[in-house]
Amino acid sequence: MKLLFAGLLSALSASAVSASACSRVMDEMVDDFVKDNFDVKLMEGTFYELAYHDYTQPRNLCGCERSVKTVHTDTEPPSIDDLFTLKCPAGSKGKDQITHLKFNATSAPGRLDGLCSFFEPLSGNDVCPDYLVDVGTRTPGEPYPWLLEFQCVERKNGELLFAGVNMYARDKSEETLKEMMDSAEAHGLGDFINGGFPNGLKIVNHTECTYPDADEA
Ligand SMILES: *[C@@H]1O[C@H](CO)[C@@H](O)[C@H](O)[C@H]1NC(C)=O
Ligand SMILES: *[C@@H]1O[C@H](CO)[C@@H](O)[C@H](O)[C@H]1NC(C)=O
Repeated sequence: MKLLFAGLLSALSASAVSASACSRVMDEMVDDFVKDNFDVKLMEGTFYELAYHDYTQPRNLCGCERSVKTVHTDTEPPSIDDLFTLKCPAGSKGKDQITHLKFNATSAPGRLDGLCSFFEPLSGNDVCPDYLVDVGTRTPGEPYPWLLEFQCVERKNGELLFAGVNMYARDKSEETLKEMMDSAEAHGLGDFINGGFPNGLKIVNHTECTYPDADEA
């Protein structure tokens, strides 16, 4: 996988945080493979969150983050029911925390819309873009092995309000995490991950996890 990103490195060095903070994401950060081949149906299934940069998620208390995505292509637009669960505290003794998230596909391949009414007073909008920056394969039609998601929200004046990076994978290996981290760097997410509060990536602890049944949650 390493060679996939080599060409991007030189193109993306300018500061990521500028006047219209998210305007470059679709053109310059979402991988061309995603733009040319995006199929929301390939996101269906169970993913483990291996790492994140996201101040809306608890940082030290919890663990075992998992996302079960059900894709509906019979809705207009196509949509995703995302059952997001975690355990607090981390490990087998934790208590399940369950959130039902919803996303809509949009006419821009690789861009989903999510609900985030909590940002509305500052952003002027209750819909937040969620970009699939990379998906872990270059084979059209293959279910995505992993999802590098970037939620970029601007203040009304175009400054960056929120930058959320979420690394979801169908497996929990160190190798896959490393691939996603390399991809994040190669696609220009480094400045977003290392800026803001709290700084850097939170690696999720998936040891001693049990996960709630999708039908019980
Ligand atoms: C992960 O959680 C387990 C218990 O669930 C704990 O024993 C281990 O130390 C944790 N690992 C890290 C790196 O925090
Ligand atoms: C998704 O689309 C449905 C149907 O148009 C709409 O009711 C809902 O508000 C949309 N949700 C988001 C997050 O855009």
